Amino acid sequence: METPTQAAEPVADRAEPADPGAPAEQAESAEPTEQAEPTGPAGRAGTADAHGAPDLADPGFWRLPAPARAAAFAELRRLPGPLFFGDRATGKGFHALVRHADVVEASRTPAVFLSGPGVTTPAPARWVRLLFGDSMVNLDDPRHAQLRRIVSRAFTPRLLGRVEEDVRRISVALVDRVERDRPADFVSAVAAELPFQVICTMMGIPDQPRRAILDLVNRTSADIGVARSLRDRLRAPGRGLRALARMQAIVAGIGRERRRRPAEDLISALVTADVDGRRLTGRELGAFFTLLLVAGVETTRNALAHGLHLLTVHPEQRALLLSDLDGRLGGAVDEMVRHATPIIQFHRTVAVDHELGGPGGTLLRAGEKVALFYGSANRDEAVFPDPDAFDITRTPNPHLGYGGGGPHYCLGAHLARQEMTALFRELFTRLPEARSVGEPELVPSSFDHRVRSLRFTC
Ligand code: HEM
Repeated sequence: METPTQAAEPVADRAEPADPGAPAEQAESAEPTEQAEPTGPAGRAGTADAHGAPDLADPGFWRLPAPARAAAFAELRRLPGPLFFGDRATGKGFHALVRHADVVEASRTPAVFLSGPGVTTPAPARWVRLLFGDSMVNLDDPRHAQLRRIVSRAFTPRLLGRVEEDVRRISVALVDRVERDRPADFVSAVAAELPFQVICTMMGIPDQPRRAILDLVNRTSADIGVARSLRDRLRAPGRGLRALARMQAIVAGIGRERRRRPAEDLISALVTADVDGRRLTGRELGAFFTLLLVAGVETTRNALAHGLHLLTVHPEQRALLLSDLDGRLGGAVDEMVRHATPIIQFHRTVAVDHELGGPGGTLLRAGEKVALFYGSANRDEAVFPDPDAFDITRTPNPHLGYGGGGPHYCLGAHLARQEMTALFRELFTRLPEARSVGEPELVPSSFDHRVRSLRFTC
């Protein structure tokens, strides 16, 4: 499959991310360093220009065709240690963690690799975080653990059982509509709609404000990684923040109402659950809902779109899947997420000097940033035989599409699997001819593998 050819915008043109939990455009513009250091056994990080490596901090890199980018990452994985992109003397830039083992180590050592300073680039501004509340993806312990406990407590088996039914019901309704209306675009008709309806149903958002919320979500995230005019971009921060404020106000209002009259939904559970003597405040509720929408809708929609396209351009895998849908769907859905890797990278900030890979490993200095390149880790030949192949029978498949483990591991991984499985089961059972037509329309970004639209036929 042609994976996305995407481009990042220069940092000077980027807008402040509108959402504290939202992914921001990632590529940092970093000046070539004057102080090249060799990569070496002495454990010092090498710099990109010393190796003549393609510059991951250069927006132009993300405009290269997918095979060229994949080849660059393969080259980086072969080096003895991660390279630093940017100017180490000033600390501006990041170490690129491109191997599976390195991404896992950073994810599972949260005392060294902090999320608190922000996991996106640029990090959300302090006033944005104060005004709209912190989302858990940008927090460290103890606040992260506390919030995650409240949220996890609310995901009761009873609620999750209901969600599974909802996912099935919404999938059936969407395929009904596809059968009836034969829409042209898989993304807007199916892939975006399913996770959005599921999250709204799960949270207990009434039908009436849903369209307005979807519109606001689109406005909040419309400026991520999209090539647009400078005038548009200058207008973007205010527009995104206004949309965010309106969305959070709607949710806070529902929260107040549920505190008075609790129902069987996640908002009620979140505003009434009492963990360590605490429950979610209105602001935390708004931040969490925004995070669920941004983290749970865009990612799942992209995974579904890439998934349909992958099955189309690999007809032998498609035939294999259809010959045993129930037996092979779980593996296929995991392989879609590995191969497409909806989220390209998140950042961490190093808390104390640390040798990556153990004593003698690459020295990372306190205060430096690392970028966890999930897509590269998912193509690491040390872990995945024939890593570029799309193979729905791949076992084991320890991909890092949902993160490298540790406290921030994707809260919605189980739900995402449920949604993808339910949707493809319904689609291929009733419309086994469903397939994409032509190439997906991709959105330029170095943060996520986003699909704007995908024509399809059944
Ligand atoms: C295919 C779909 C999805 C992908 C590829 C994905 C990927 C990720 C990744 C890479 C992380 C960061 C992990 C880390 O920093 O260690 C993450 C975190 C998160 N995801 Fe997902 N995600 C998906 C679907 C969902 C869904 C459906 C939801 C919720 C409804 C969700 C909610 C979250 C939340 C709340 C976090 C932050 C967790 C924390 O900081 O403790 N995700 N996801």
